[in-house]
Amino acid sequence: MIEFQNVSKVYSNGTKALRNVSLKVDKGEFVFIVGSSGAGKSTFLKLIMCEERPSEGEIVINDMCLSRLKRRDVPFYRRTMGIVFQDFRLIDNMTVFDNVAFAMHIVGASQREIRKRVPYILGLVNLQDKQSCRPTELSGGEQQRVGLARALVNNPKLIVADEPTGNVDPALSFEIVDLLSEINRRGTTILMVTHEHTLVKHFQKRVVEIHDGEVVADSAAQEVPHEA
Ligand SMILES: Nc1ncnc2c1ncn2[C@@H]1O[C@H](COP(=O)(O)OP(=O)(O)O)[C@@H](O)[C@H]1O
Ligand SMILES: [Mg+2]
Repeated sequence: MIEFQNVSKVYSNGTKALRNVSLKVDKGEFVFIVGSSGAGKSTFLKLIMCEERPSEGEIVINDMCLSRLKRRDVPFYRRTMGIVFQDFRLIDNMTVFDNVAFAMHIVGASQREIRKRVPYILGLVNLQDKQSCRPTELSGGEQQRVGLARALVNNPKLIVADEPTGNVDPALSFEIVDLLSEINRRGTTILMVTHEHTLVKHFQKRVVEIHDGEVVADSAAQEVPHEA
């Protein structure tokens, strides 16, 4: 599903964020990406989201070379994936329902589909009672579950999450990864950056470690990956 072929990224100020990274992620995998701050983890995800372009090497996603993707097609490409941010990035003056509905609206879903699907997805993340709240009325964990609902609502094949538990307390971190695990069991590929060792230890997924722009370790999941 995702293949990095000798990918390097040098930012315009000369910072070498990734060096010669080669890596494959199969459909249906759940991968934790770990490493210290500044290691290149976010850059790795940004290259997948096409928010940045590689300086060298090629990234192939579902048999498509990202280098062939035209700039004007990037927003459409990005809508094929679910993206979860550390700082939630919800729209504060919209209700929980509308925050999730908006993601469907963008891809052209009908009002009828939206009215049916949004409550279902909010139920999945246990927020059925918070539909008409504003994000500011929710706890950090609840806000991140809205973020997850929004990432899930268009049924993406891939979810990319950059430290999604970075701003929620430890108990809720487990809950969020539990939810991601459940979604993964249903066939969605998940890439999640984290530096919480307890999470990584507990969930026994594949772990890719990046250090100073290089992949220095890649250990297989202890559990059997889901066959999508
Ligand atoms: N837009 C940018 N311009 C210049 N340097 C950047 C930019 N984004 C990240 N970097 C640098 O690239 C390196 C890797 O950053 P990043 O991928 O954000 O690491 P991580 O997510 O692992 O903390 C760091 O040294 C960082 O300062
Ligand atoms: Mg980062």
